[in-house]
Amino acid sequence: MSDIQQSITDEVKIIKSGVRKVFTPHIPINQLEHFFGRDEEVKRIIGVITSPGLHILLFGDRGVGKTSLAKTTCNLILRKINEALNKGKIYSKSCDRSDTFSTLLHKPLTDAGVSIFKSGDSKRVKYTGTASANIAVAKGELVSEHETNINHRSQTNLDSPSWVADKLKDLDGILLLDEVDTLSNSEDKRKLAELIKLLSDFDSGFKIILIGIAKTANELTAGHKSIERCLKEIHLERMSNEDIKKIVLNGMKSIGKKPSDDVVDKIVNISSGFPHFTHLICLKCSEIAIEQNKSHIEEDILNEALIRSSKDSESTLLSSLDNMLRNIKKPNEYKLLLLATSHCNKKDFRSREVVNKLNELFGMTIPSSTINRRLSRLSENFSDTNILNKTAPGCYSFSDPRMPSFIKITFNSLFDETKSNSL
Ligand SMILES: Nc1ncnc2c1ncn2[C@@H]1O[C@H](COP(=O)(O)OP(=O)(O)OP(=O)(O)O)[C@@H](O)[C@H]1O
Ligand SMILES: [Mg+2]
Repeated sequence: MSDIQQSITDEVKIIKSGVRKVFTPHIPINQLEHFFGRDEEVKRIIGVITSPGLHILLFGDRGVGKTSLAKTTCNLILRKINEALNKGKIYSKSCDRSDTFSTLLHKPLTDAGVSIFKSGDSKRVKYTGTASANIAVAKGELVSEHETNINHRSQTNLDSPSWVADKLKDLDGILLLDEVDTLSNSEDKRKLAELIKLLSDFDSGFKIILIGIAKTANELTAGHKSIERCLKEIHLERMSNEDIKKIVLNGMKSIGKKPSDDVVDKIVNISSGFPHFTHLICLKCSEIAIEQNKSHIEEDILNEALIRSSKDSESTLLSSLDNMLRNIKKPNEYKLLLLATSHCNKKDFRSREVVNKLNELFGMTIPSSTINRRLSRLSENFSDTNILNKTAPGCYSFSDPRMPSFIKITFNSLFDETKSNSL
């Protein structure tokens, strides 16, 4: 069989297995059967969102599972409560750079009886009117001239939090606003905060859940102090190893694959609490096992899966590592250093700990002062990105918390290479 024919046969087997519906590294979970852990957070979200006057700010590192948690909780659990109580809809909106305060609330406003755009309009309009209609045109939405003129007269306050709050206050429902960190203008974040405060003051049944990447809640609310009482902050931490293990074991079981204990432990270790990497590595392991008609997943499959996972990883991680390695002398020594650093499994680490790890993993004895110098070099900028941050004298952390997992995936083969070199 030719290589192309073989690839097609493999692809068909993989598609038929359904594995790509079980391990989904690039999309949030939206089925309860694939959602693991987070029991406390689910309870907290339900408790807060069903309490009068309270709204939610869900924040945390990139890829930690924010959207999956919010969507699963709202879509699958709250939907049931809402149906039972005959309450309102769940709205979901992912913000992007072109969004402003006035574009975030179109769907609920329409349901509240505000006529923003009518369906069936097919003419694009040259328009020089309100901010809201300009955005519609900028985003390529289609509105007729007649409609726009009506909107122009009646929608002039779409930019005003108090006008919007007044229209929404009698609506029942939940609005999930995801990727709030992409709103570039802090004025828009301030208006959102104001809207939340007003809805809370009205004791409205319309609730908002803000979701975004941030280290502190302030980054997403532009430091609006007066909403502290009505906006409950939920900081989403990384998943526990126990819950990561559940993703591996349940997913593998559902497609009839059996990973060895060693393979499971390695996947859990590499994931470092980021479910994205768990899904990515499990997907690649399963695909290889399907191609090779194997039901057991052993170390050889995992090693090949890590090579494929590295190629499929996010380009920002790839390019910042690449930039650094291209601009540094002795790149191989830095690779080993980074691998040992990643295996420290700590948020902040000191050069002494890295020295010990290099010795434990590769039998290398390098003076602490040399390691400190190299760690310091890695905290410099390489084409606008730095791999490490210096958090205190002699103390470092990775600037992207996902980097240690990516390094373990990408440099995994160094373990075998250094072993065979020392023989
Ligand atoms: N509780 C969970 N159980 C199983 N898999 C999960 C869980 N939470 C997230 N995942 C998986 O982890 C990956 C990242 O999840 P998600 O997109 O929800 O993260 P995020 O924090 O919203 O990411 P981003 O910061 O990029 O928006 C996805 O592959 C998703 O399927
Ligand atoms: Mg998300």
